Amino acid sequence: MRKSRKRVAGVSAAALAGAGALLATSLSAPPAAADVAAPGDNPYEGSQLYVNPDWQASATEAGGAAIADTPTAVWLDSIDAITSGSDGNNNMGLREHMDEALAQGADAIQIVTYNLPGRDCAALASRGELEPDQIDEYKTDFIDPIDAILEDPAYADLKVINIVEIDSLPNLITNVGDRETATPECDEMKANGNYVKGVGYNLGALGDNGNVYNYIDIGHHGWIGWDNNFQATADVLYEAANAEGASPEDVTGFAANTANYGATEEPYFSIDDVAGDGPIREGNSSWVDWNRYVDELSFAQAFVTEAATAAGFPSGLGAIIDTSRNGWGGPERPTGPGDISGPGEDYVNDSRTDRRIHLGNWCNQAGAGLGERPTASPEPNIHAYAWIKPPGESDGASEEIPDDDKGFDRMCDPTYEGNARNQYNMSGALDGAPTSGHWFQAQFEELMANANPPVN
Ligand code: BGC
Repeated sequence: MRKSRKRVAGVSAAALAGAGALLATSLSAPPAAADVAAPGDNPYEGSQLYVNPDWQASATEAGGAAIADTPTAVWLDSIDAITSGSDGNNNMGLREHMDEALAQGADAIQIVTYNLPGRDCAALASRGELEPDQIDEYKTDFIDPIDAILEDPAYADLKVINIVEIDSLPNLITNVGDRETATPECDEMKANGNYVKGVGYNLGALGDNGNVYNYIDIGHHGWIGWDNNFQATADVLYEAANAEGASPEDVTGFAANTANYGATEEPYFSIDDVAGDGPIREGNSSWVDWNRYVDELSFAQAFVTEAATAAGFPSGLGAIIDTSRNGWGGPERPTGPGDISGPGEDYVNDSRTDRRIHLGNWCNQAGAGLGERPTASPEPNIHAYAWIKPPGESDGASEEIPDDDKGFDRMCDPTYEGNARNQYNMSGALDGAPTSGHWFQAQFEELMANANPPVN
């Protein structure tokens, strides 16, 4: 299978990673299995997080030494990734990462399990290796081997934060049936039940390990923040949390904004604002457009305290917000609110720090910057601001690349004029991008330059 080893200035990421991995052998075996993680436990609290040496080496070589010791998640995006690293920018397998985490003296490692059958049913940039009906392979060839590593008593004291299958269950609400945004692929995954079954199996099998903390993906406010998506998403998550051996006790919380660009907090306007021509929520701002939320923090908190509990999840769960690329600093960032006495359209556009063309744009967004550095318990019900998408790794190729296993999604093409999912706006993507997961130097440099808080 394809695996491009990134080499910069003659040093491979694997070579740099190897130095740390050697240290692991000098550690003595930790004690056996901890108690099952209880709902409400926050694995980030007081924890030193694992720094992925693969990403660290790439970021250092790319001019990001100042932020290269930031913890980022390890993506398990194929069966091969379990033993030899994810597509594109990574070389270490899961066991090497676990050993290296022990060597670093880390308390917790963040992983993303991302290989469902029929993956990425509403886009092409991250189409996966398993066909829509390959649920058995997902269980036996993907989740079971991961489980076999995580249950090794050598790792019993290392907390494993599992971000479960991003961009999957929300698609079963928004991109199916008679909606204008529906795709045949998402209709199929809804009909065959394999997203629900796969997530259930993942939660149950991995969650049975006392050191594993599962967070189920909830998309982001610009996707699930509308009334007709919000509770329905929580309900399908609850269905998955009761499927294929899972129970709600296997769920620690929810992951918002993974690999997306929504601002954590919009400082200069809020959903209740009333502009010169009326409440901004009620149709006079095409940016807000009846959404209930204007940022990820308000969305994630409401999801935990309102939708999740209404669906049947226990109260006291948490959410994490991916802040790796949602900083929106730099010269385009507004420094205060717009004129609230004028039209809502202008007021919101002049106030918002999220400078995307449309909230539905998701691929390699021009103008984005690094966001909040990872922080535990920053706000009520928020377990962490975390860097889940490693900055500098592409969301998708900006043009067709021959023989690419992943597809070409025009949402990554800067000349594309959009589809129903971004209401026919320009894609806002950067040009010159490689396949998803591969290193995108120009994007990394822009993220550094537009970081908010800035990089010192
Ligand atoms: C890609 C994965 C990659 C991940 C992190 C996803 O979009 O499909 O291959 O590991 O991003 O960069």
